[in-house]
Amino acid sequence: MCGIVAYVGYKKAHPILIKGLQRLEYRGYDSAGISVLNGKISTFKTKGKVAELENYIKSKDLDGQAGIAHTRWATHGEPNQVNAHPHFSQSKSISIIHNGIIENYAVLKEELVSRGYVFESDTDTEVLVNLIEDIRINEKVLLDEAVRIALCQVVGAYAIVILSDEHPNTLIAARKGSPLVIGIGDDDYYIASDATPIVEYTKNVVYLEDEEIAVLTRGEELKIRTTKNKEKTPYVQQLEWNLSELEKGGYDHFMMKEIYEQPRSIRDSMRGRLNPVTGNVSLGGIIDYEQKLLTAKRIIIIACGTSWHAGLVGEYLFEDIARIPVEVEYASEFRYRNPIITEEDVVIAISQSGETADTLAAIELAKQKGATIIGICNVVGSSIARATHAGSYTHAGPEIGVASTKAFTAQVTVLTLMALRLAQLNGAIPKTRFMQLLHELDSLPEKVEEVLNTNGLTEHIAKKYKDVNNFLYLGRGYNFPVALEGALKLKEISYIHAEGYPAAEMKHGPIALIDENMPVVFIAPQLGIYEKVVSNIQEVKARKGNVIAIVTEGDTIVRNMADYVIEIPKTEEYLVPILASIPLQKLAYHIAVLRNCNVDMPRNLAKSVTVE
Ligand code: M6R
Repeated sequence: MCGIVAYVGYKKAHPILIKGLQRLEYRGYDSAGISVLNGKISTFKTKGKVAELENYIKSKDLDGQAGIAHTRWATHGEPNQVNAHPHFSQSKSISIIHNGIIENYAVLKEELVSRGYVFESDTDTEVLVNLIEDIRINEKVLLDEAVRIALCQVVGAYAIVILSDEHPNTLIAARKGSPLVIGIGDDDYYIASDATPIVEYTKNVVYLEDEEIAVLTRGEELKIRTTKNKEKTPYVQQLEWNLSELEKGGYDHFMMKEIYEQPRSIRDSMRGRLNPVTGNVSLGGIIDYEQKLLTAKRIIIIACGTSWHAGLVGEYLFEDIARIPVEVEYASEFRYRNPIITEEDVVIAISQSGETADTLAAIELAKQKGATIIGICNVVGSSIARATHAGSYTHAGPEIGVASTKAFTAQVTVLTLMALRLAQLNGAIPKTRFMQLLHELDSLPEKVEEVLNTNGLTEHIAKKYKDVNNFLYLGRGYNFPVALEGALKLKEISYIHAEGYPAAEMKHGPIALIDENMPVVFIAPQLGIYEKVVSNIQEVKARKGNVIAIVTEGDTIVRNMADYVIEIPKTEEYLVPILASIPLQKLAYHIAVLRNCNVDMPRNLAKSVTVE
């Protein structure tokens, strides 16, 4: 969704801002803009990609050592040049960029209109910048105080950065419900909506908290106070990300790079948390909450999209391995359905970005009702990571491709570790069996490497099916969520309609779709209720459907029935979701590439969904 980047210091601002916008492109957007200060503020905006903005400003005078820039994902008003950010105040003295939504903007706008303000755009952001200007002029206060007063009148979410020609060496930033990271250079400052534009300049960052306002003046110390006018001492943290993690590293797309990173990302998710020799599993971040998890009346997992699919795998893991009851809910439904939650419940919130609006709101609701909230997030310092009582990071590294891949397998890895740890504590499985499971988990990264080495098979299958209109994905037990995830991957990046179902549900409806044009992907390892899945495959073949099956290596039964088989190494049933999801990621990727789709930035999608 919308992206923010800003700079104030002694370097030329605009190259830093444009590069920052490029780093933020993965978030999804439909227009871009930049303001640079050099005596007066110059602003340039374009509809479309950052490359178009770059082209547009080539011949313009953009000298200046302070500036703000933005990629906009339209909420109020259509995506066009006028509605793109930055927005000016009426006097053209203040320029603002804004992520989030000002819910009471209509009321505020009406008041400003009655006082003579004229608006150029349809945005809530232009209302905010004029409100700030109005307060500054009428109450005769300094700009940062005008910002504070204005923000007290605002209902909604915001991350803003303000540039003013009255304060050429200063930026003002504030946040509530929308993230903002401040990078601290030697004598300069970087601001961004996530750390990706900052990593190459500094590792020292401050994550602004909700309702905090920062005043950043080059060569001076960072000043932070709250909207209630309380001074705060900035808490400087170290970024763990490296620049190489933000580059494609020789791959055509981030998605493929991230698929191939999985042996490493899974290993990193387990690092220091699993010792197959001593039989120890520990997740430092939740140690103080283990008893709470063990005695919980139930665990409720909340998440959206791919993270929700990981949650479904978690349900099987926790119930199967640790014998603790689990429910999994879409955060977007949970937050509005007046759920029954008590202090005896533990909520696990899963999110790659840590910024998903629905998940955040669901957490707040569960917290109000007294539940304990555990987070599983990838982005350190993210809003969800901070809103939860405790949690475990996935350590998958930055995920740039909009289609989640390595984040999913890392989430499932962390859920597996949690389930094993709880089973170890409550004795739900015998010690010898526990040790077997631990060993198998430890060997997972090597097996993932084997799966990745499919020698062009998924690409070959992709060529065969790239032009179909529909796909069905079927699996049972642990592999039902894998079917859902496989279908989601395909539809979001290739725009082919795909559905995931529990294989046995096929007879209750989807079987009507099967004919010689329908590819059906089965996740059919020789484990659990394998024979039942084989029967489902026969039912599809009897109706001339095309079967692509993910099978255990050496399986000849399904090989004799299916049109294509993709083998995965033998493993324990509880680890199949991780291994089986990888060929499905690759299949979706190759089909999308063959259809000339924008794999890393699919249409209409954003990497972190920060609005409902
Ligand atoms: O950052 P989150 O994990 O909270 O995001 C949730 C979903 O928006 C996300 O998983 C989405 O479904 C992805 N595009 C899936 O590939």
